[in-house]
Amino acid sequence: MMVDVIHVERRPELDEELRQCVHRLAAAVERRDGAPPLSDDALLHLGDPARLHLTATDGSARLTGYAQLNDGAAEVLGDRVTVAALLAELEGLSPALTVWSHGRRSPVAAAAGERGYRTGRVLWQLRSTNDAPVASGATDGPADVTIRPFVVGQDEEELLRINRSAFVDLPDQGGWTRADLEDRFAADWFDATGLLVAERTEPGAEPGTGAGTGELLGFHWTKVHPGNLGEVYILAVAPEAQGMRLGRILLQAGLGHLRQRGTDGVLLYVDDSNQTALRLYEQNGFSRFNQDIQLQIG
Ligand SMILES: CC(C)(COP(=O)(O)OP(=O)(O)OC[C@H]1O[C@@H](n2cnc3c(N)ncnc32)[C@H](O)[C@@H]1OP(=O)(O)O)[C@@H](O)C(=O)NCCC(=O)NCCS
Repeated sequence: MMVDVIHVERRPELDEELRQCVHRLAAAVERRDGAPPLSDDALLHLGDPARLHLTATDGSARLTGYAQLNDGAAEVLGDRVTVAALLAELEGLSPALTVWSHGRRSPVAAAAGERGYRTGRVLWQLRSTNDAPVASGATDGPADVTIRPFVVGQDEEELLRINRSAFVDLPDQGGWTRADLEDRFAADWFDATGLLVAERTEPGAEPGTGAGTGELLGFHWTKVHPGNLGEVYILAVAPEAQGMRLGRILLQAGLGHLRQRGTDGVLLYVDDSNQTALRLYEQNGFSRFNQDIQLQIG
């Protein structure tokens, strides 16, 4: 009888060679499952000694699985048997563990289900061809607001303030610090012209002519992936400015930017419980494409 040999090892951090192996394995799993198995955040922290890293190898010492643990939340990749072995090890380290299963074909949900995990958050991936502007609702927002690109070195604190207040219920997102922002600015994909902000202008001026006050009311951060797929990376409006159509205006401005860049479709992620955002996206040409599920035990 063939027995799977899975060797799981804990590592304080990954060296450059192992990081490359994880990137290659993640790309192969993405082709298999139709969804990237590791979040952007996990990929950015492959070399972070503040997180715990587990590697799984087979009998020939080839990397077959990887898990990253950050404060009780794990991301895991591999085949079903490898994922189960990684989960067993992670449960020993963090009894109240949460783990994401990325995409409907991911083996993580099945492996976790067998181990007694229950479903927590459900995150939709929506897609749009974005080949033409969608005429959806009025797009005239408040007069004393202008939409412009982010200015590096000037708008960081305001953007972090909006991010904190808009995502108060999502600490992973709302808790971003200046360092988290700068990590993203340093990434290959970062393009300040694709990060649009809504700035309050001086009151009483002719629409479109008022000087900026420096106060931001919202932002839409877009991204272009290597395969030329666009993303609505973050859309946020300050709670006190919500319901004034800024979300819709920022969304459409960012989609216009992605069309100009010639991207081949656009994706975004939205929580199933965020019905306001889900409706806004569906009214603007997006439909449901894939699903990520957060599973929890303990
Ligand atoms: C989602 C979000 C960006 C929408 O921005 P907004 O400026 O409030 O939205 P708009 O004023 O453009 O309105 C868009 C639609 O949402 C509806 N809406 C806005 N706020 C709402 C609320 N609190 N409850 C119910 N519906 C609401 C509007 O009525 C409008 O729908 P309609 O055209 O059918 O009338 C904003 O609520 C937000 O930043 N939320 C927190 C962060 C977030 O969830 N971002 C998206 C993550 S994927």
